[in-house]
Amino acid sequence: MKFFIDTANLGQIREAQALGILDGVTTNPSLMAKEGITGAQQIADHYKAICDAVDGDVSAEVIATDFEGMVREGEALAALNQQIVVKLPMIAEGIKACKYFSDKGVKTNVTLVFSAGQALLAAKAGATYVSPFIGRLDDVSTDGLGLISEIRLIFDNYGYTTGILAASIRHTMHIIDCAKIGADVMTGPLNAIKGLMKHPLTDIGLAKFLEDFKKGNQPV
Ligand code: E4P
Repeated sequence: MKFFIDTANLGQIREAQALGILDGVTTNPSLMAKEGITGAQQIADHYKAICDAVDGDVSAEVIATDFEGMVREGEALAALNQQIVVKLPMIAEGIKACKYFSDKGVKTNVTLVFSAGQALLAAKAGATYVSPFIGRLDDVSTDGLGLISEIRLIFDNYGYTTGILAASIRHTMHIIDCAKIGADVMTGPLNAIKGLMKHPLTDIGLAKFLEDFKKGNQPV
């Protein structure tokens, strides 16, 4: 499973990249605003800085909600760097734009997916990735992981190559469960990724190894 980090924070992106396990980055307008990134030039410069900080795909979301606007914005974003994946909302105009970009060989990520039917449409439009938001479904008492399973089944039934990018990940168990189901990618916050490393028995075991090493290496 590929690991993307879901943030526009350069410090966190660099920290995850330094671990050597990062495959890409996803952003959205809320995450960019959280970092105080505003205005076309600043946004473009920030995407370039993110691309320089990682080796893999970087999802950059359009703001337009009409086909022409999405195409205009998406083309400008894609021109910034080959790593850019044009992120499009799961609405009719977004599906049209997805087909337009996939026909041109531009990578796409269809976002705000909350049902299997939406994922199926995105795959038919040739999306590179589809982003089901599991945390937000869980928030409204709906089974987010169940949606990942449904999409996996449908894509496997027909051999769709669209990657299932499990999004809105909230904690380590989401990541583990997505890996069990067979999501192609997960995008989550740095603390959920780092949480995978933690186990008290690892810390206790390491402390004991170091203590025993010291005992055996006392100066005589
Ligand atoms: C995905 O691409 C989105 O940026 C993200 O995962 C949304 O997560 P949230 O529900 O925590 O905002």
